[in-house]
Amino acid sequence: MGDLLAELLAQNDKPVSYADRLERARDMMRTRRRRQVFQLLGREISIWESDVGEETDLAIGKRLWPGGVAFAEFLESENFNMSFEDKKVIELGAGTGLVGIALSFLGADVTLTDLPDIISYTEENVLLNTVDNDTPLCKYTPQVRPLTWGRDLAAYPRNDPRYDYVIGMECVYIEPVFDDLIATIKHLSTENTVILIGYHVRIKKREEKFRKLFFENFDVLGEFAVKGPAFTVLMAKILPGENIS
Ligand SMILES: C[S@@+](CC[C@H](N)C(=O)[O-])C[C@H]1O[C@@H](n2cnc3c(N)ncnc32)[C@H](O)[C@@H]1O
Repeated sequence: MGDLLAELLAQNDKPVSYADRLERARDMMRTRRRRQVFQLLGREISIWESDVGEETDLAIGKRLWPGGVAFAEFLESENFNMSFEDKKVIELGAGTGLVGIALSFLGADVTLTDLPDIISYTEENVLLNTVDNDTPLCKYTPQVRPLTWGRDLAAYPRNDPRYDYVIGMECVYIEPVFDDLIATIKHLSTENTVILIGYHVRIKKREEKFRKLFFENFDVLGEFAVKGPAFTVLMAKILPGENIS
């Protein structure tokens, strides 16, 4: 971060005040963008990240996270045998959209969701990759919608649609919203929904707390390590008798 600031300051040779140059350098860092290209599922998926170098809560959603990348890559591995063709999928905390885009190329009907301030960044990547001059490139063109966990549930009526999958990668990192995240997963699931929640162990105590909550609230069918033991994907269904309408 310090090196970047020095580099940006050095690029400014106009006779402006130090404070102005500093502010301009910070502005440039705030909007700093980076493109990453993935060869996945026989095609190129291009993802723009924004606010690279920022450490704010919102910048988190504008960046690619290793678990999302690992899961997207895992989707095409021989060891992964779930079918997404014609399945209704809702993704929580979709961020830059890589996972939802990959699932769309597998033939799923995907709704990518994130915080209201993030979804325009998600949508940019979704449109860039899944539509070519108004021509849809996937069987179902993915939708992008706001969904703040525990808050916007009225906009997502229970069991309508009946999602086949509820997916969230790298969404387990804010302890105060664990209950909201769990309530949201329950709200969106029916007895047939497969829930896939992937998390990295970064702060052991925190992730263990989530894990305990998750095991108390769902019927955990299994778990698998994607790219080493630190990134775990929990596979679950809601408990019998929950969410009947
Ligand atoms: C670490 S990022 C992971 C992004 C993406 N899934 C990936 O793997 O690259 C976590 C995502 O959760 C979103 N998020 C955080 N708190 C949220 C909340 N309360 N409601 C909805 N989304 C939230 C963030 O905006 C961010 O996009």
